[in-house]
Amino acid sequence: MRQLVGLVEYDPAGDPFPVAGWDAVVWSVGNATQAALYYQVVFGMELVAYSGPETGNRDHHAYVLRSGAVRFVLKGGTDPAGSLLDHHRRHGDGIIDIALEVPDVDRCVAHARARGATVLEEPHDVADEHGTVRVAAIAAYGDTRHSLVDRSRYRGPYLPGYVARSSGYTKPAGEPRRIFQALDHVVGNVELGRMDEWVGFYNRVMGFTNMAEFVGEDIATEYSALMSKVVASGNHRVKFPLNEPAPGKKRSQIDEFLDFYRGPGAQHLALATNDILTTVDVLRAKGVEFLDTPDSYYSDPELRARIGDVRVPVEELRSRGILVDRDEDGYLLQIFTKPLGDRPTVFFEFIERHGSLGFGKGNFKALFEAIEREQAKRGNF
Ligand SMILES: [Fe+2]
Repeated sequence: MRQLVGLVEYDPAGDPFPVAGWDAVVWSVGNATQAALYYQVVFGMELVAYSGPETGNRDHHAYVLRSGAVRFVLKGGTDPAGSLLDHHRRHGDGIIDIALEVPDVDRCVAHARARGATVLEEPHDVADEHGTVRVAAIAAYGDTRHSLVDRSRYRGPYLPGYVARSSGYTKPAGEPRRIFQALDHVVGNVELGRMDEWVGFYNRVMGFTNMAEFVGEDIATEYSALMSKVVASGNHRVKFPLNEPAPGKKRSQIDEFLDFYRGPGAQHLALATNDILTTVDVLRAKGVEFLDTPDSYYSDPELRARIGDVRVPVEELRSRGILVDRDEDGYLLQIFTKPLGDRPTVFFEFIERHGSLGFGKGNFKALFEAIEREQAKRGNF
């Protein structure tokens, strides 16, 4: 895990808001029953738990899927008058809750409240025959929330109200056991001029520290620009890059996201893999579309020099469109999918780290030019 997601040493004793890691990424989707199958068949995730009308939940279906340390909860509304479908009508498919595992929910909420956070759910216990979970929730950017979860006294498949459920789906022979193993970071897009406010929120309320900072030239193309800063929990297990649009000649990808998501939200999830070549091969064979990398990326001498020595020949990267970035600590390999749903909003990144603790700053320009070509095809550029 240390290498996979780039952990660092830290002393939890002085941390006012200790975070153990990610608990779950909770999605609102238009059709959870179908999406659950999509994430199994395409992304190799495993169905582990379920809540729905059959279990007494009249409001929605929820499917819990795992891949290594990653847990997704896919929720689709059944009650036309329910709040979940209101959320979906406004935002489309997207992430409603980036839930975090914390050892002391009450202490975190007390600290968050004292530092001005909006507490959406007070700390409380939920229990069933498998034990007790302590949970609370605070508001993040837009309609996104952070549930804070202590499941140390719980042995059930997810949360009380959910039942264990497996799938009749059988993976094809030869497919790797997992296509990705861990969640590396979740990027949030916020409104123009509000990035520093949200960086301040994570600093003040959750005790996160600032990592790399990208502004201006680094991530500007001829036409559009954005600003980005990164905050992380003490040991860097949880990392939140935050983007805001910056003025450019044309509409940036962040503006496009904000328009179609109707406000701030989670833009991409970076999923860590220890074999990005196989990940890309398997996903492409299933029809997953990635952003095209210009061929010049691999032939440009300056870029070529930056790529340097990596674990595979550059040709292997070129044939798959995998990007490389390097810093003083090492390098990383990364690739980005096209948007996952009907709106040009949330997408995935796959990342394989080799010492680098960065986010692919050196690739931003090449990448954004690729995104702009896609935006232009959609008529949004
Ligand atoms: Fe990323």
